[in-house]
Amino acid sequence: MSTPALQEGTSKPLDSAWVRAQFPSLKLQVNGQAAAFLDGPAGTQVPRQVMEAIQNYFLTANANTCGAFATSRANDATIAAARGAMADFFHCDKDEVVFGQNMTTITFALARAIGRELKAGDEIVVTTLDHDANVAPWRALEEKGVVIRQVDIREADCTLDLDDLMRKITSKTKLVAVGYASNAVGTINPVAEITKLAHDAGAMMFIDAVHYAPHGAIDVRALDCDFLVCSPYKFFGPHMGTLYGKRERLLQFKPYKVRPAPDALPDRWETGTQVQELIAGIGAAVDYLAELGRRQDASAKDRRSALLAAYRATRQHETTLLGRMIEGLLAIPKLRLFGISDPKRFHERCSTISIRIGDHNPTEIAKFLGDRGIFTWDGNYYALNLSERLGVEQQGGFLRIGLVHYNTVEEADRLVAALREFARR
Ligand SMILES: Cc1ncc(COP(=O)(O)O)c(C=O)c1O
Repeated sequence: MSTPALQEGTSKPLDSAWVRAQFPSLKLQVNGQAAAFLDGPAGTQVPRQVMEAIQNYFLTANANTCGAFATSRANDATIAAARGAMADFFHCDKDEVVFGQNMTTITFALARAIGRELKAGDEIVVTTLDHDANVAPWRALEEKGVVIRQVDIREADCTLDLDDLMRKITSKTKLVAVGYASNAVGTINPVAEITKLAHDAGAMMFIDAVHYAPHGAIDVRALDCDFLVCSPYKFFGPHMGTLYGKRERLLQFKPYKVRPAPDALPDRWETGTQVQELIAGIGAAVDYLAELGRRQDASAKDRRSALLAAYRATRQHETTLLGRMIEGLLAIPKLRLFGISDPKRFHERCSTISIRIGDHNPTEIAKFLGDRGIFTWDGNYYALNLSERLGVEQQGGFLRIGLVHYNTVEEADRLVAALREFARR
């Protein structure tokens, strides 16, 4: 199986100054120091375009949908525009885009609907590398007698054990649920090829792209997956979730819904009144990325091309920071880095790094950094199977450093210097 690739290809250097100027919260100071937001994997900061769109919703479009008056029509138009933006983001049709509360809630609802059609003995494949939100909703179907088979990892580099995966996909497999990228150690999985394996076995493919979305462009047509989920608050938007579903799949399964709600796509999957103001923000987040893409590549005419240009620049920028940070981290005594560290294999990972230093509890390190204005995350970040498998769960898990496109070389260097100081104490 070949290795996956993010948007490789050269781009002019990311216009970091313009990017940072779009994010007002990056100016925050903590204890007299500039805040360094290395907590992106738990939720990114938001550009002013998103804040303005949310405010504008309340000023001009605050009504429920499908009413016969101006604000309701404005709301309908805003939701339609956001759906169009997400269709460009996923590379699908508008009626294949579903909005929801967050990835976890969407996945539980979808699993429940799919579970209606499954029988005892049917199998679903999940992985040890995944966030629990791509495990627990499928495991909930064990109540019906569905058999869950969990694919192991290769411990040395925290990649999926693809031989194990091939063994676990059988003629009984109905669905394969795999993450696009690990929110703990940054590994990118070869999801296009896994989709092919799933389809060859007659199974559906469900991809959790929550962690991948800020780092690489998603193309559901090229992947040919049946479902893919991601959460806009991880790619510079508001706290919501979004689902792509192949039209025939969204029609095939029956969601739990109220009788008067439309049965057409995508409405049948959008239970109750949506957080409409945040849907407005989702459209603006995608448009922010497209604006970045057009700045990076003036020849990008349509929104999809602009998004690809934004991700090319993002990828290049993040890889530079990743290389510099990993080199600095590996020079710190007693530091253990989980996952791929060889620059020649950076195309197999994104810029999310998990470490431990000696026996120190990661919370202690996160606090040390937090006091210096450097925001990182500690614990298992709900990648519970992985922290258990790597034997760190009982010791407080990992410390996670997340680099996204608004982070800088200075921030990477500051983090490494602070960890060096921590390790010297
Ligand atoms: C890889 C991954 N999957 C799923 C989730 C859950 O997403 P949500 O918070 O939208 O339910 C997260 C959240 O951290 C995640 O990182």
